[in-house]
Amino acid sequence: MNRRGFIGKLSTVTAVAAAVNLEDYTKPTPKSFFIATWNNQEAVKTAQNYYSESLPLLDSIVKGINTVEDNPLDQSVGYGGRPDREGKVTLDACVMDHEGNAGSVVFLQNIKYAISLAHDVLKYTPHVILAGEGARQFALSRGYSETQMLTDLSKKQYETWLKEKEYKPIINIENHDTIGMLGLSDDGRLSGGCSTSGLSYKMHGRVGDSPIIGAGLYVDNEVGACVATGLGEKVLTSLSAFLVVEFIRQGLSPSAACKKALERIIQKEVAKPDFQVGLIAIDKKGGHGGYSIFNGFQYAHADQKNTSLYECDYFYKYE
Ligand code: GLY
Repeated sequence: MNRRGFIGKLSTVTAVAAAVNLEDYTKPTPKSFFIATWNNQEAVKTAQNYYSESLPLLDSIVKGINTVEDNPLDQSVGYGGRPDREGKVTLDACVMDHEGNAGSVVFLQNIKYAISLAHDVLKYTPHVILAGEGARQFALSRGYSETQMLTDLSKKQYETWLKEKEYKPIINIENHDTIGMLGLSDDGRLSGGCSTSGLSYKMHGRVGDSPIIGAGLYVDNEVGACVATGLGEKVLTSLSAFLVVEFIRQGLSPSAACKKALERIIQKEVAKPDFQVGLIAIDKKGGHGGYSIFNGFQYAHADQKNTSLYECDYFYKYE
């Protein structure tokens, strides 16, 4: 090789090496992760996978939640959800993004993906909440098809329930396990969503905490985010998700903030609670945690490397 050729080759190698180094240096360290109420590991993994394939954070959360809405065996979310007292499956869902934009649907019937519709409310309407028939009409105008949401399994159980018509929330039994999901992007943005068919055998027209911004879900991109599961009436009257974010703002860790917000609920009870509420939260720095009134509450976590399950601390042990 002559001198000219040698210098040419050297500079090429140096240039490539420099480019690689520069890229490594400027590439932000991936820190994205997703958490979801209960053992929804498949859902957080799906969200993380979509996010890794460059889908925006909130869209990835919606995709993750869709997997649970689609599952007929999950009988408290979406398709196959247990019906109300009149045998109708009615859905609640909401989303909130890093800019504080929110979309929500309440008392939605015959439409499969409530979380996608809530996201569409955020994206395509000047409103935050669409309810009932209006939400259904909006779904049809967006190209959603009508679906019979009551599966044979849920119908059979409903017919059995009709014999006694006894209504009582049962701790950790799958009659109020909303899927709530929160995500943190690589560049530090927060978003969240939640979707549920609500309490089994509720009164027709009942709306829970899950589609109400500040109750079932709250995101403040400066501070943190929280999502709730459990008996919606208790979460609604304490604005639990908003409260958790405010406690994080005051310096509490996500778990400590969830615990303190649950204390507010418990303090209002004259006797020991006989219902479950679980809260999970993330903070802006990438911390995450949860807490529940009774034992048995878990949350799923996924980042680029792992998917795992966390057991939450609690106030009371269920006997
Ligand atoms: N947290 C769900 C509901 O009460 O509807």
